[in-house]
Amino acid sequence: MSMKSLSKSDAPKSPTNRESKLSDSDFIVSKTDTKGKIIYCNEIFIEMAGYPAASLIGANHNLIRHPDMPRVAFKLAWELIQNKKEFFGFVKNMSSDGGYYWVFAYITADVDPSGRIISYTSIRRKPPQSAINIIEPIYKLLVDAERTGGIEASQKILTEFLKEHKMGYDEFVINLQKGATI
Ligand SMILES: Cc1cc2nc3c(=O)[nH]c(=O)nc-3n(C[C@H](O)[C@H](O)[C@H](O)COP(=O)(O)O)c2cc1C
Repeated sequence: MSMKSLSKSDAPKSPTNRESKLSDSDFIVSKTDTKGKIIYCNEIFIEMAGYPAASLIGANHNLIRHPDMPRVAFKLAWELIQNKKEFFGFVKNMSSDGGYYWVFAYITADVDPSGRIISYTSIRRKPPQSAINIIEPIYKLLVDAERTGGIEASQKILTEFLKEHKMGYDEFVINLQKGATI
């Protein structure tokens, strides 16, 4: 029996402060088509997202997008993966009850033998609290900047932040995932 896929309008309108945490051994996995529609997700994905499994297939992955996430993060992710480069980053996701959960996400393109992108795969792990403590205020700055100056404003802040800390983006987030505190 088929079930109607969910769309962003089925997601909660107002987020809550209820946090769920992954366990240390969890891996959240999902795959999308080239447009970002979910074609596969594992048990933990379903559990954390809190939607019926069958209704997730075919849904746009932005279903679980949290309003606290800066747009610049997804812009960077899509730019990289469409060019067959890996994306690493911290993502705050929203579950069906409006609660949230933080992940450290890896996204990559899946290519066929001719090199054509056929799908995308994401694997996510639990981030250390030290990383969330650093990323959360940065994302707040970026979201605020986007409200007034759009994505150009947040991009500028991110670039200047990394320059100030003499780090590339990947180096910064991977160090945080390893427990670094800048
Ligand atoms: C394989 C894959 C996994 C993704 N996982 C997430 C995710 O867990 N949370 C999220 O908000 N966006 C995720 N995205 C990005 C979404 O496609 C989308 O760009 C993002 O939610 C912003 O959507 P919006 O621009 O419609 O607001 C993923 C994309 C791909 C290709």
